[in-house]
Amino acid sequence: MAAQFNKKERSAKSIAFVHHKGGTGKTTTCINVAGWLSKLRKRVLVVDMDPQGNATAGLGIDKASLDGSLYDVFFNGVAIGDIILETESGVYLAPSSLELLAAETHLVDQANCTNILWKHLKNVESYFDYILVDVPPGSTLLMINGIVASDNIIIPLDSGVFSFETMETLKTLIVDLNEALGVEANVMMLLLREYPGGGLFSNPTRRIKGMLAKFLEDNDIPEVEIVKIPFSKKIFEAQMRGVPISHFAPRSKIGKAYRKVAREIIKSDQ
Ligand SMILES: Nc1ncnc2c1ncn2[C@@H]1O[C@H](COP(=O)(O)OP(=O)(O)O)[C@@H](O)[C@H]1O
Ligand SMILES: [Mg+2]
Repeated sequence: MAAQFNKKERSAKSIAFVHHKGGTGKTTTCINVAGWLSKLRKRVLVVDMDPQGNATAGLGIDKASLDGSLYDVFFNGVAIGDIILETESGVYLAPSSLELLAAETHLVDQANCTNILWKHLKNVESYFDYILVDVPPGSTLLMINGIVASDNIIIPLDSGVFSFETMETLKTLIVDLNEALGVEANVMMLLLREYPGGGLFSNPTRRIKGMLAKFLEDNDIPEVEIVKIPFSKKIFEAQMRGVPISHFAPRSKIGKAYRKVAREIIKSDQ
């Protein structure tokens, strides 16, 4: 059943969580930041653009029970407001379904195929303070739609020992994205997930953070903040339970880290 909500005066700020690799923490960041924004009394919509539907499941929604998903919005003429659900933590959700796997081939045939999500979100943006778009990996039309629909992007990075690869990735994402994909991507934050113990360096995360800072300086992108995110088993437990960390273990180290990100987002919007 579709959720009920009231219109407000200002349009939502929209943020996409982007990285072309899988497993860097896009979905985890998206749903946990959403949980905190909701706890800080903001009205938040998560848009799950990934056919895998991890954000949908991570917010406690059983995908098998869905009446409609973004697929129906994109291809079956269903209004986006009619598929939005309210989840346990108070975060609203435009759910995904596996059918979205076919979206790529259908989208190619549509006119203005990169701004379809943007067009649909226009119809609901005045109901929310924040719209967070969880983007699938790869450089697909679903990913590009997510970026085009968003005012800003946040890039979650994992700090493996392949730090130079991280730099290359970042160059692709920040410096080349606009040119390569023909879309404007305003990066507001880099999140660096801690390496979970050991490695070639004594403190790989700190070392990579230093390299990232130098990269931003060299490429004249000083306004992008780098935030460290701890590696935590609590995240796994919260995801199993289907609630964001803000509603599961808010005082944990990882809980506080995501609260900091949510607060930075609010601050940057004032
Ligand atoms: N801070 C963290 N600590 C521990 N595990 C994490 C953390 N962030 C993400 N994970 C785990 O890493 C895996 C990939 O994260 P996910 O958010 O699904 O990445 P993506 O959306 O980029 O593919 C998931 O199993 C998730 O539980
Ligand atoms: Mg994901």
